[in-house]
Amino acid sequence: MTKPIPVLTIDGPSGSGKGTISQAVAKRLQWHYLDSGAIYRAVGLAAAWESIDLSDPEAVAHCAERTEIRFESNDEGELHVYVNGKDATRLLRTETAAAAASAIAAHPPVRTALLDLQKRFRQAPGLVADGRDMGTVIFPDAQYKVFLTASAEERAKRRYKQLKDKGVSVNLDSLLHEIAARDERDAGRAVAPLKPAEDAVILDSTGMPITEVIERVLAVLPASLRPR
Ligand code: DC
Repeated sequence: MTKPIPVLTIDGPSGSGKGTISQAVAKRLQWHYLDSGAIYRAVGLAAAWESIDLSDPEAVAHCAERTEIRFESNDEGELHVYVNGKDATRLLRTETAAAAASAIAAHPPVRTALLDLQKRFRQAPGLVADGRDMGTVIFPDAQYKVFLTASAEERAKRRYKQLKDKGVSVNLDSLLHEIAARDERDAGRAVAPLKPAEDAVILDSTGMPITEVIERVLAVLPASLRPR
């Protein structure tokens, strides 16, 4: 029997550092990387482009089925996301895209429409899958699972710094409020709520430098798979 392709799932709330950590870990392992949040953001954006009512589950699910989402690394190794042929990398990072993603992600038919697309990322030599339900719904049979978290205050502070560095003026209190509201919506929805898989290693990164978080995630893998 051939061995199943290894999958490391990294789930957690927004601002937990999942994106940075998952990409760094995938690079170190030279595995494929699935940014499932970008898929939900892309569908939210495509639906908005088509003026679809984001609260209509069936209409958004049909939009998800016909939206072409492509991930491509450029020469500098940066990941670019194309939505219906258009480079939407920057647009997808906006708070508007995040809010649209969170709204459409609550619809069961939308999640169903995106199942196969996500599963197809499982390719040799391995996959690092970043999201909310990677270890619970998309890859329940993943061999390695991490649930990455950090306090809401720390996540708001990280986001505040990110936005300030970009020259965007923001208010820390309103960011904290937004993060708490999004957490509640993501954790409270009926389908694929944000929760750790029973077999996930819980990693609280509050106050931990990125390099240490990366090492702790890599330590979840057996020594034979870890980079030297
Ligand atoms: O990780 P992110 O911030 O890019 O995700 C954007 C939104 O998409 C988030 O509010 C919840 C949703 N999402 C989801 O429901 N399931 C996933 N696997 C990934 C993201």
